[in-house]
Amino acid sequence: MSTEAETDPRKVDAIIERWGRDPSFVIEMMQDVQQELRHLPRAALEQLSAATSTDMARLYHIATFYKAFSLEPRGLFSVQVCTGTACHVRGAARSLDALSRELEVEPGETTEDLLFTLEGVRCLGCCSLAPVVAVGPDLHGDLDSSKVKRLVKKYRKRAAKMEADNA
Ligand code: FES
Repeated sequence: MSTEAETDPRKVDAIIERWGRDPSFVIEMMQDVQQELRHLPRAALEQLSAATSTDMARLYHIATFYKAFSLEPRGLFSVQVCTGTACHVRGAARSLDALSRELEVEPGETTEDLLFTLEGVRCLGCCSLAPVVAVGPDLHGDLDSSKVKRLVKKYRKRAAKMEADNA
């Protein structure tokens, strides 16, 4: 798959310049690239490496050490289905299955339109709302499988609006 960084390295250049090409800010640069491109493409890491004289091995070490970084494209919205005990007892597996069918991806995968990355996660810390699904920063309690279609529709609409606002 061709990535934005491969087709438009200027975005990565702008980030590098913003941090003054200073190798001591390489993690901050990687955070900005991750946010801008929703992952760290190899081409972007090569740009960072060349501009800051930082080894690719070090960049890959950082990229794989911190959970916030991803070498694969991630969706605009991360969909985290809590599979902790309270949510499990209240049907989290059915919610996860329903989301998997609705989004046509397996847990750990990203939809082709790069809108959603689906994941099963441990307790989200709000067990009284079980079963819980987090979409980006939003928590949705009592999210049983019957509510999945509506939830996905809501975020597709939100993504369309964000795109329209950025046009
Ligand atoms: S078990 Fe799901 S929020 Fe705690």
